[in-house]
Amino acid sequence: MVKSVILDCDPGHDDAMAILLAAGHPDVHVRAITTVGGNQTLEKVTRNALGLATLAGLNVPIAAGHEAPLDRPLVTSPEIHGESGLDGVTLPKPTMDLDPRHGVNLIIDTIMESEPGTISLVPLGPLTNIGAAVQKEPEIVSRVAEVSLMGGGMSVGNATAAAEFNILTDPEATSIVFSAPWKVTMVGLDVTHYAQATPEVLDRIRAINSPISHFVNDLMAFFIQSNLAEQNFAAPPIHDPVALANIIDPTILKTERLPIVVETQGEYTTGMTLVDRRPWITSLTTTHVATEIDVERFWDLVIGAIANL
Ligand code: RIB
Ligand code: CA
Repeated sequence: MVKSVILDCDPGHDDAMAILLAAGHPDVHVRAITTVGGNQTLEKVTRNALGLATLAGLNVPIAAGHEAPLDRPLVTSPEIHGESGLDGVTLPKPTMDLDPRHGVNLIIDTIMESEPGTISLVPLGPLTNIGAAVQKEPEIVSRVAEVSLMGGGMSVGNATAAAEFNILTDPEATSIVFSAPWKVTMVGLDVTHYAQATPEVLDRIRAINSPISHFVNDLMAFFIQSNLAEQNFAAPPIHDPVALANIIDPTILKTERLPIVVETQGEYTTGMTLVDRRPWITSLTTTHVATEIDVERFWDLVIGAIANL
């Protein structure tokens, strides 16, 4: 069944892999791409999004959103994604112009112009645009099919001991997203840390032997080095496409319906996504947490999509 999605992203090496998955998988209809300050500045991630869409042959509306979080300054991550936000590769000159709307307005317009329940939101960076869209047009909450976001974690952080990068960057926006009464699935580090681009995975991609597969291998060459140097990963976790895989084939993940709150004040815990697993808690939360991943089927999905491009 074809799923219509809006990708909100901060490309970013793993955002790039999610965009390629979206472009190459026959069951995904990308309705819009919006960008947000995160891995790199808004200007850089937007330039990267235009280049990636051109490379992937995705001719869809692309709009730049918020350059900074709702209530705090942006802190980028050049140590992981480089100065360009997509170090290691050269992108083609964009064949499309940027949509003149603000990214938040493109999100709202796309949802409000579509049949209720037909659009899934796939945030892959800080949740600034999503939080702002809910504040500006609360009606989108009842019209969105579901939100599948990459971020957070039950038991591990990467930006701090307690917090994952996307959530730490904008915990206030995250709180708006988790508090709204729509179905949200937190696809966090508990599962994305297992979605690693191992040598076996990279060999399968190299064997495709296409311009896109060569691009991916170049993309991963930089990402391998930065993740090894910064986080001691022998093989880099490819976080973002897992959130989209959840929309394409929800059976790839095990999810549990659990309450989630976000710390916004803690000296050591700001950005922490606190999941309440107490068995007697019966709150009718609409938040879900990804707890397990079928890594083999995940990579089959991604590699199959790359082979289609
Ligand atoms: O913590 C991983 C997340 O932060 C991914 O979305 C990556 O692209 C960065 O934005
Ligand atoms: Ca990202």
